[in-house]
Parts: sequence; C-alpha cells; structure tokens
Amino acid sequence: MPNLKVTVQAGDITTVKSDLVVVNLFKGVTTPGGATGALDKATGGLLRHFLKAGDFKGDFKDTALLYPEAAPMKRILLVGLGEQEKWTLDRARQVAARVVKRASGMGITRYHTIVHGAGIGGLDPAEAAAAVTEGTLLGAYKFEHYKSKKPQKEGEKKPELAEVVLLEADKGKLPEMKEAVRVATIISESTLFTRTTATLSGDEGTPEEMARIAQEMAREVGLKCTVMDKARIQKEGMNAFLAVNRGSAREPRFVVLEWPGKKGEDTLVFVGKGITFDSGGISLKPGEKMDEMKFDKCGAIAVFGILRACALLKVPQRVIGLTPFTENLPSGTAYKPGDIFTSLNGKTIEILNTDAEGRVILSDALYYADRFKPAAVVDMATLTGAVQIALGNQCSGMMGNNAALLQAIKESAERTHERVWELPFYPEYDELIKAKTGDWANTGGRMAGTITAGRFLEKFIGDYAWAHLDIAATAWQDGAIKYNDEYSPGLATGVGVRLLTDLVRNWKGLPSSKKPEGAKGDAKSVKRTPGKRETGEVEERAVRRTR
Ligand code: BES
Ligand code: MN
Ligand code: ZN
Repeated sequence: MPNLKVTVQAGDITTVKSDLVVVNLFKGVTTPGGATGALDKATGGLLRHFLKAGDFKGDFKDTALLYPEAAPMKRILLVGLGEQEKWTLDRARQVAARVVKRASGMGITRYHTIVHGAGIGGLDPAEAAAAVTEGTLLGAYKFEHYKSKKPQKEGEKKPELAEVVLLEADKGKLPEMKEAVRVATIISESTLFTRTTATLSGDEGTPEEMARIAQEMAREVGLKCTVMDKARIQKEGMNAFLAVNRGSAREPRFVVLEWPGKKGEDTLVFVGKGITFDSGGISLKPGEKMDEMKFDKCGAIAVFGILRACALLKVPQRVIGLTPFTENLPSGTAYKPGDIFTSLNGKTIEILNTDAEGRVILSDALYYADRFKPAAVVDMATLTGAVQIALGNQCSGMMGNNAALLQAIKESAERTHERVWELPFYPEYDELIKAKTGDWANTGGRMAGTITAGRFLEKFIGDYAWAHLDIAATAWQDGAIKYNDEYSPGLATGVGVRLLTDLVRNWKGLPSSKKPEGAKGDAKSVKRTPGKRETGEVEERAVRRTR
C-alpha cells in the first residue's frame, strides 16, 4: 500500500457518509457506549441486535462486518478490543493492523474510524492516535518489489485503499492528535523504507546499491551523506572491514549519514552491520536457509531509517549513522581462519571462523565513531544465531557499558513494543575470546555466543557510553513465533527504527558517574563530558592499553 495516508478530521462517526466505518467493542460488552453506542442508536439498534445473537463477543482482534439498512455509511466493521484490563497501546497497534488488512480487500479507497481505546480504554488520545497510525501503516505494508505485474485491462483495476480517517468529535483534541499522527507517519514510513531496502536481494542490494539508496534518501530528506569507496576505506586504515571484503568481487562501501541538529546538543551515533550477503565465507554456512542471509544488512538499513526519521522530525540532537557494507563470500582471495588483522584502534583480531564477520567489520566502525565525540553510541547487528536460542524472537538482546543508556533504551522498548532484554556482560566472559597469538579471537565458541560477540565489540569502542543490540532474531520473520507479527510482514521487520527514533526523541542526556571535585550528592545533574567515561573503566582501559 504505497500511498496510504492516515488523517485526522473533526466529525461524527454516526453521520459520516462513508463506504466503511470502523467501531470497536471491549469483550463482554452487550450494550455499547461511546461512539459505538451512538452508532448503534443511529442505526436503529443494529449493533445491539447483532450482539444479542452471540456471534461476536468482542474478543481481541475479532471482526464482524455489518450492512446497515438506512444509514449514511455502507458498511460497519466491528472490531473486538479484548478484555478491557488487558488493553495497551500495542493492542491498539494490533487492532489497527487487523482492521486495515480486513479493509484493504474491500475495494474501497477510504474508511473512517475512531481512535481505539482512547475513551473508556483510558489511553491518552494523542498516544492512541499515534499507535493506530503505526498499526495501520505498518500493518498494510506489502513487499511486492519482485512480483511481476499482471497485465490489467482497463476497468478491471480494483481501487486501492488510500486514506484512513480518524474522526474526533472533540475539537479540543484535534491539534495534539494531528501532531501525533504526523510524527507517527514519519516514523512508520521510515520503518517501511527500512523494510523494503533490507528485503532487497543480495544480487540487487549490493554495497554500491546500498550507498546509492542512502544518497538518494539523504537528498530527499536533507541529510549529509558521505560514501567511502575501497580506496578511501584503505586510507582510513579499516583493515578488519577490508579483510571481510577480500572474498567478494564487489567493492565495499562505508556510508556516513549526518543530521547536524542544533549547536550545543548531544551527538548520538548509530552503527549498523551491513553484510549484504553472509555465506559464512571460507567457514561456509550450511545450505539450509542461507537465502535468509540477505537480511544480514538489517542493522545498517535500520540506521538509514533512523536517520531518515530524525531528519524529517528535525530533532535537536546531532545524529550520525555509520554503516559498513560488504558481502562475506569465499574465494581464492578470501580471508581465512588463522589470519590476523589489525583493527582501526590498533588491536589485533585473530580470525577463528570467517562466519563471525559482523563483529570484525563493526570493530572498525565502532572505533571510527569516536571522532564524532558522541554522548552515546548504539549499534545494531544481526550478529549471532545464538540470540535466537537464548531469547527466541520476541525481543532483541542488549548489552552495553552504561546503565543509564540501557535504561533509556528499555523505556523506548516499552513505548514502541520493540522489546529488548539485557544480557549479563561480565568482563570474565573475556576469557572465552582471548586469542592464541593476537589480542582477541573473533569467536568464543558456542558458550554464551551472543555475550562473547558483545564482549568482542567492547574491545573496539571509543571513549563513549555504548549499547549493542543483537537483532538476529527480530530483524526478519522466521519460524513459528514471530516478532510483532500483526503489523510485521513475513520479511524484514524494520526493527530498531521505531525503538531508536524514540530514544532520540526522548533524549535527556546521560548522567555522569564521575562527580566533579568536591561535588556532593546528585550525580544526575552533572552532564557527562564528552570523551570521558565512567571512572574505573578508564583505569581498566589504561591498563589494557599499556599491556
Ligand atoms: N549473520 C550471522 C548471524 C545469524 C545467523 C543471524 C543466523 C541470523 C540467523 C553471523 O554473521 C554469524 O554467522 N554468526 C555466527 C557466529 C559464530 C561463527 C561464532 C553464528 O551465530 O553462528
Ligand atoms: Mn556470519
Ligand atoms: Zn553475518
């Protein structure tokens, strides 16, 4: 549904001339109130009459289509909201998604609805309007880029759904609802941009093509975009990144996206893994499901989506996106187990398995982030199969070095329902990734595979607060349990875009644990000085550096 829009209008759902009007009902309600009750009266008790038959009980996401005899609307879709005490913002997203999917087959171009669950449901009307917008736009999404176009005769073309109107009777609520829908539309469309780009095949979605798409998007929304080619990447000294690229006949690209923000505001850097196809390299993967490794660029493409949203929302922070792109393929020139490479921060990486390539390319990107003097860096990567085993696909795995940053991400996860789960991050896990001859091995074996991957990344970060999200189980749909299924397609989910755009929108800076000389009490009021990290860790690093 490429051109679907959600709008907010003043109006009365009982008198609107419409092909379809959507109203809702909590479970167990037999005498509807609110807008649903008003519509019941306007249709001469049609809804109550229907409810009496007992076919529809208001179960969550249940729908029933009714045809009133004498009313300004042609059809009424009744949607169940489930038990009132279980009602949440995410249930509002899911209901909206179910409704748009039900309506899109009807051959209508527009329908009218009320914001679900804002009245007796108790949700804030603006937040509920945002949730309904997200559920509608994300739920209607289809990836049809590779479907051949069937020849269509004139007149046979079915009209497409183009507009969903949220009707609000209370004029006082309109401005905040309109603003919420505007913001939610930008964020949802950025998520869809990520879904479509991340789902491109490995053949089409090459590093070069990813850079071109970034440039095109940047031009459209007003971002600065710098693309480094192989020669430039060599000049920068990103030897770890280049090592992974060696087996590929295609050149790598390193894309830098920049939103300038306002002077004096914090800088936030987002880093994403951009493996456009991961065969495993010389440590070749088994054939089964290898096709899914075109999704190994999902972290990087989520960074594109975040930067797109930040630009359109004109956020005050300076936001930077860093995305290294390469294929991981075997060939006569490919990097091999036993090879050792020096990463950008001077530490050496001993390759034990060429399939643990994500952490290798991210080592250079994470150190590169330091030059922007970030207040915080968050990376997203489809890094380990182990995170699927540990957490299944209901949440992303999270690790990091700063409790306040992790807490802020957890709060964004609650709001957006792009859930995260923090894993233990004890330094003792480092034992598993000590190299035989170099500094750090690129795998720690099967034990705690997600954590050791995170511990590896930690060796290459700069002087900043950092969080790592392993999205290998949430970035695309796979298997029986699905991630935010009602409004995610069977392909790339766009995970990370809503989550981290929310982080930026709610950014309040990070407290520093380092108290100024003689300062007492509340550390929260002290802003973190860029370039300085938590005490203790500074010392630990200093020791490691001189080793
Ligand atoms: N891209 C994969 C991780 C992955 C695997 C994501 C399956 C989604 C589904 C990553 O590059 C990888 O291959 N990781 C290895 C690491 C191992 C060799 C230490 C893994 O998870 O098996
Ligand atoms: Mn791999
Ligand atoms: Zn990979």
